[in-house]
Amino acid sequence: LDNGVGRVPPMGWNSWNTFGCNINETLIKQTADALVNNGMRDLGYKYVVVDDCWMDSTRDSAGNLRANPSRFPSGMKALGDYLHARGLLFGIYQAPLDRTCAQYFGSYPGATGSQGHEYQDARTFASWGVDYLKYDWCSPTGTIDDQVRVFALMRDALRASGRPIFYSINSNSIHDKTGPRRNWSDVANMWRTTEDITNAWNTGQTNGYPMGIQNIVDVTVPLARYAAPGGFNDPDMMEVGRGGMNDTEMRSHFALWAIMASPLIAGNDVRSMNAATTTILTNSRLIAINQDTLGLQAGQISFDGTRRVLAKRLANGDVAVALFNQGSATTTISTTAAAIGKSGSAFTLTDAWTGATSSTTGAISASVPAHGTAVFRVSGGGTTEPPPPSTTTLVSASS
Ligand code: GLA
Repeated sequence: LDNGVGRVPPMGWNSWNTFGCNINETLIKQTADALVNNGMRDLGYKYVVVDDCWMDSTRDSAGNLRANPSRFPSGMKALGDYLHARGLLFGIYQAPLDRTCAQYFGSYPGATGSQGHEYQDARTFASWGVDYLKYDWCSPTGTIDDQVRVFALMRDALRASGRPIFYSINSNSIHDKTGPRRNWSDVANMWRTTEDITNAWNTGQTNGYPMGIQNIVDVTVPLARYAAPGGFNDPDMMEVGRGGMNDTEMRSHFALWAIMASPLIAGNDVRSMNAATTTILTNSRLIAINQDTLGLQAGQISFDGTRRVLAKRLANGDVAVALFNQGSATTTISTTAAAIGKSGSAFTLTDAWTGATSSTTGAISASVPAHGTAVFRVSGGGTTEPPPPSTTTLVSASS
């Protein structure tokens, strides 16, 4: 979407994975302070996204949305001001039908979705200083055309508000297990690729609910062609630091999100992170790969059912390569500089985890533990055309 924002994947934090509906302004302010104090803001984690359950159960007499007065007694404008004063950006959640997802499932009162209030709500968000809207369909019914219509309606309403607002959508086309996938880059800056992520490595699903990290990678890798500056595939907020995976798996999760040009939206409690989590989320080499200005998602170079090789061309001619072991035993994974789109015979490999460098005439190989991912930045030589493939097995469904 060409709306002046989202030229690289967004980075930030979202309240849902850890806190669900249990949110309030103190939590959000403490989180903002933590992002500043632990260095994450300065690494790019700028969007602080208040997910579902922030709103009052009714609109005011003029039909305006308003904050839940006991959770956000200072109001949303004041919260936005607090974030902006600290160099952060303000994200908020809303839904295009008559109710939000938590309202739909009965875990939060009211029916205050934006349906019929799209332009009014976009103006309200702009007046509060909102920089990012997560807009969530949350209904098992509705055709793809119904969804295109309402997601495009809010896109146009946000544009009319006059404030550049990053636009994140969650359609229910993800419920379609076998059918074509729409390319939403004409509508939004990011679009969810699967059902909700869960704090687990593998739930054995390919498109069901909930989704483990491995399962989300399986679905999102083939959608690489859709990613470009202005619009990115969204495999959901991260579960790094949430305790459901070992450190190897958490590193893989982060590395794969980074190379897939996925939004890096932390979902853990950043007020209390252990050293392992901090090291992962603040890896500046992986963040640089993710935030590269070409905005490409890694293409798949090879996959034998266990060993998956992904490569992402970078703006300075380097190529990032991930060697991902989906199996349950340590294995050697290999590719070549030529296979990932480099020409020449002298390259430097920089290990994204350790920073260690090594030289190669073309072979790229690593011993990778179960569920692990080695990542190298490959520099030297030239680049070949075409670049690493952007595999897409699912095609656009609808205009
Ligand atoms: C849906 C979304 C989640 C979250 C909840 C809030 O399930 O997919 O990311 O926003 O709604 O109710």
